[in-house]
Amino acid sequence: MTDKTASFGIDGSDRTYPVMEGSVGPDVVDIRKFYGDTGLFTYDPGFTSTASCQSAITFIDGDKGILLHRGYPIDQLAEQSTFMEVAYLLLHGDLPNQAELSEFDYTISRHTMLHEQLATFYRGFRRDAHPMAIMCGVVGALSAFYHDSTDITDPQQRLIASHRLIAKMPTIAAMAHKYSVGQPFLYPDNSLSYTGNFLRMTFGVPAEPYEVNPIIENAMRRIFILHADHEQNASTSTVRLAGSSGANPFACIAAGIACLWGPAHGGANEAALNMLREIGNVKRIPEYIARAKDKNDPFRLMGFGHRVYKNYDPRAKVMQQTADEVLKELNISDPVLDVAKELEHIALHDEYFVEKKLYPNVDFYSGVILNAIGFPTEMFTALFALARTVGWVAQWNEMISDPEQKIGRPRQLYVGATARDYVPLDQR
Ligand code: ACO
Repeated sequence: MTDKTASFGIDGSDRTYPVMEGSVGPDVVDIRKFYGDTGLFTYDPGFTSTASCQSAITFIDGDKGILLHRGYPIDQLAEQSTFMEVAYLLLHGDLPNQAELSEFDYTISRHTMLHEQLATFYRGFRRDAHPMAIMCGVVGALSAFYHDSTDITDPQQRLIASHRLIAKMPTIAAMAHKYSVGQPFLYPDNSLSYTGNFLRMTFGVPAEPYEVNPIIENAMRRIFILHADHEQNASTSTVRLAGSSGANPFACIAAGIACLWGPAHGGANEAALNMLREIGNVKRIPEYIARAKDKNDPFRLMGFGHRVYKNYDPRAKVMQQTADEVLKELNISDPVLDVAKELEHIALHDEYFVEKKLYPNVDFYSGVILNAIGFPTEMFTALFALARTVGWVAQWNEMISDPEQKIGRPRQLYVGATARDYVPLDQR
C-alpha cells in the first residue's frame, strides 16, 4: 500500500480510497469498501479496468509489447530455457539450479502415466469428437481419481496435484489425437524430454521405433514456453474463479480448458489457420481486409488483435521466426505462410488496423508451424491447453495461498422485471 489515494465525488461528497502500487505497471484503486461506503457497485463487463487479484507470476505491458514471467522476458526464456525450467519458474518463483531442475524433471516424469481405467473413458467419446471436448472430459474425470486424496489447504498436496496435471497433460492430449485417428494409445517414454515424449506419443506407433526430430522438438519447446502463462486471461481467470470455491483442482483445470476452447481465446490458432487456408492466395487478401473492416460483416481477422497488447505481441515475433525455421528445415513450402506474411504486411500498414492498434497475436503463426509438423487443426487448441496448464496450476496455487483470497462473486446491474405477482397458467 502507498500513501497515494484516489477520490471520487459522489452525490456532492468526496470519497477517498487507497491506491495500491505494484512493482511495475499501473497502480490500482482499492475499492473493496466502495459498496459499503456508497451503496453503489462499479460496472466493468469484461474486466477491462478491474484487477481481480494480486499476482507475482506474469507481467504484461501491452503498450510496449513486453511479457515477463517472474521478471524474465519471454524471448529470453523461449530462446534459452527448457519447458521444465519455465514450469518450475512459474510454480516456484525462481529459475531452478541444476539439482532442483533434475529433481523436478524426475518428479514430472514419474507422473506421466494415466490410470488404466481412463483408457476406457476415452472409448465413450464419438470417434470424431473434438480433442478439446475430450480434454475437458478426461481432465474433469481425473478429479474422480484424485478427490479424497487432494486436500487443497495443504501446500504439499497442491504441489502434487500440480505435478500430476503438468505430467499427465501430454499423455491426455496425445491419446485424444490417437483416439481420433483410430491408432493405439502409446505409453509415455520417460527417457525422452517433455516435448519429445509428447511427439512420440502423438506421432509414434507401437509397430515401429520413433525418432524425435530435434528441430521439431525445439519448435515444440518454444511453442509450449510461449503459451505457458499470460496473467489474468479468460481461461486463467476461469480457473481462479472455479478454484475460489475450493473446488477440486482437476475440475478447475477442466473449466479452464472449456474457456480456452472459444475462438476469441485459444481457439483462435485453429480459426487463424482455417482463415489463411480460406484466403488461399495473396490476391484475395484485399477482399478479406475489406470484410474485416466492414461493420456489417461479423468477420474478423483471426490471430489479430488482443485485449492487452496494443503493440506487437512479443510471442508472435518468436512464433514467426519459428515458422520460418521449421518450414525451412522440413523443406516445406506452404503457400499459407506467404498468405500470412502478406496479410500481416498489409494489415500493419492499413489505417483501420493501425488506428485500432491491431497487431498479430501469438496465434497468427502458431497454426502454420503446427500444421507443418503434422498436427490436425483440431489439435491446435489442445496443445495450447497442454502448455497453459503450467500457468493455470501456478495461478491456482498462488490464489489458494493468498490470505486475501475470497470466493469470486461479481455483482450486477439488474435490468429485468421488477417484482410482480405470479399469474396462474389458465389466466396467461
Ligand atoms: N479484425 C478486425 N477488427 C478487429 C479485430 C480483428 N481481429 N479485433 C478487434 N477488432 C476491432 C473491433 O471490431 C473493434 O472495433 P470498434 O471499436 O470499431 O467497434 C475494435 O477493434 C476493438 O475490438 P474489441 O473486440 O472491442 O476488443 P477486445 O479487447 O474486446 O477483443 C479480441 C480482443 C477478442 C482478441 C479481438 O481482437 C478478436 O476477436 N481477435 C480475433 C480473435 C483472436 O485472434 N483471438 C486470440 C486472442 S490471443 C489469445 O487468446 C491467446
